[in-house]
Amino acid sequence: MDYKTLAHKAVEAKSNAHPPYSNFHVGAALLTQDDKLYLGNNIENSTFGLSICAERTAIFKAMSEGERKFKAIAIASDSPDFITPCGSCRQIIFDHCGEIDIICTNAKGEYKIFKTSELLPHAFGDKDLNK
Ligand code: THU
Repeated sequence: MDYKTLAHKAVEAKSNAHPPYSNFHVGAALLTQDDKLYLGNNIENSTFGLSICAERTAIFKAMSEGERKFKAIAIASDSPDFITPCGSCRQIIFDHCGEIDIICTNAKGEYKIFKTSELLPHAFGDKDLNK
């Protein structure tokens, strides 16, 4: 799947967003190395800290189905600015997806592509454990 299509899938995923508190709708589309697609959206809770971002929803859905190898994730919101993953999601992407392409879209459907290491340089990870 090309990245324009993946970005469009993230826009579609946004329609299931559940952000009653922030009203900030986010969708994510995660592509596996063998071209399978997993969608996610943000889901907020009355205890705000329990809310989950769109990226993590997509990653955990995929991992719970046994997926471990990923190629790219696209993210969409209604913002005119290019949306990039929050700090927590950058760590989750680093830990579980590795060095993938992160497709950050704006409300016009334009996108910029970043590598994980560009958004989370000098990351802490499993390599730092068990020393
Ligand atoms: N959010 C995401 O789902 N992904 C991002 O990349 C940024 C933020 C969600 C979390 C919360 O539900 C709302 O957007 C406002 O922060």
